[in-house]
Amino acid sequence: MISVLILNGPNLNLLGKREPGIYGSITLDEINALLENEASLLDLKVCCQQSNHEGVLVDAIHATVDMHQGLLINAGAYTHTSVALRDAIAAVKIPTVEVHLSNIYSREAFRHHSYIAPVAIGQISGFGAESYRLGLHALVHHLRR
Ligand code: DQA
Repeated sequence: MISVLILNGPNLNLLGKREPGIYGSITLDEINALLENEASLLDLKVCCQQSNHEGVLVDAIHATVDMHQGLLINAGAYTHTSVALRDAIAAVKIPTVEVHLSNIYSREAFRHHSYIAPVAIGQISGFGAESYRLGLHALVHHLRR
């Protein structure tokens, strides 16, 4: 069975309380429950992890080898700063879909650049929790094509 790692970066543990005007009122636990439900409909396994620490996220990407066939990532602010996360994805060559709750291109200029995008299959940005569900479908479509 296909297994997908769902990886969330810094401050996403605060979803629900964090800037609800931008990120909505859904919590990360609720997003993960939605994805677990979607995974059972799609007949695949998901494993959900979150960390506020760049090195822990790098380690989680390394650990996908032989464990997961795909990566769905919301790297939070590290999207815009982390060469290390980009290099980790490139190193293990795991098929990756990048997601964001908000539309990063309609916000501050510093959010318009993603270090992850060039090593991802594609990116979904701006649909709230639905970005994750759409991203999971896109990733599985790619893996099963
Ligand atoms: C985010 C967008 C990032 O710019 C921000 O730093 C986040 C969340 C999103 O999901 O919209 O932490 O990745």
